[in-house]
Amino acid sequence: MYQGNIILLGAPGSGKGTLSKELTKRYEYVVICTGDILRNEKRSGSDIGNQIKDIIGRGNLVTDELINKIVQKVLYKNNQRFILDGFPRTIPQAKFLDEVDEVDLVIYLDISDETLTNRILERGKTSGREDDQSVDIINKRIKQFKEETLPLVDFYEKKSILVTIDAEQTVDEVFNDINNIIKLWN
Ligand code: AP5
Ligand code: MG
Repeated sequence: MYQGNIILLGAPGSGKGTLSKELTKRYEYVVICTGDILRNEKRSGSDIGNQIKDIIGRGNLVTDELINKIVQKVLYKNNQRFILDGFPRTIPQAKFLDEVDEVDLVIYLDISDETLTNRILERGKTSGREDDQSVDIINKRIKQFKEETLPLVDFYEKKSILVTIDAEQTVDEVFNDINNIIKLWN
């Protein structure tokens, strides 16, 4: 059974948050969700929060420098194994992570644009997330994912640590696939 750290890689709405929550019910993991960290900063009105509030509301990425600093601080404090949800999101972030910690399993949640948009719009009715409210912002997030984040699939494939999962399935089915990978991966 795999005992190490995990990256959940996937477009906005692909199920990263949902699945990491499910995983913590069965395995001893802490979840590091950079989107949640940034939204908490925004709510708290901290310096960082004020700096980034328009960026995340409009669906743009914050700078690699800022997010790397935040992640490094969290990893430094944490000595449990972790699931990364929403990080890394660019090649520079992935290279930074290589320098600060070890991850030997990257799970890529593969899904169509149409399903993503429908899921996010549905969630937007209750999430209170500004970036869930309009098709324009959702499209921007998906476009950004393809340009900035999708190259990570190739990056991790070359390291032979990437597994692709069909994220169009039900939550139970996707979770079951991930479970099987964790059991077999070493
Ligand atoms: P972040 O919070 O990471 O948002 P995201 O990547 O856009 O992903 P989401 O949280 O929207 O989706 P998810 O994959 O978690 O899906 P979920 O499980 O909720 O980032 C927000 C912002 O912060 C970014 O835009 C950026 O500005 C900034 N940021 C964060 N990290 C950064 C970084 N590293 N660098 C720079 N900037 C960064 O599922 C979606 C919905 O679908 C839910 O309602 C769920 O119930 C439902 N659902 C899930 N799975 C299924 C299923 N299998 N079947 C049916 N419904 C499902
Ligand atoms: Mg999420």
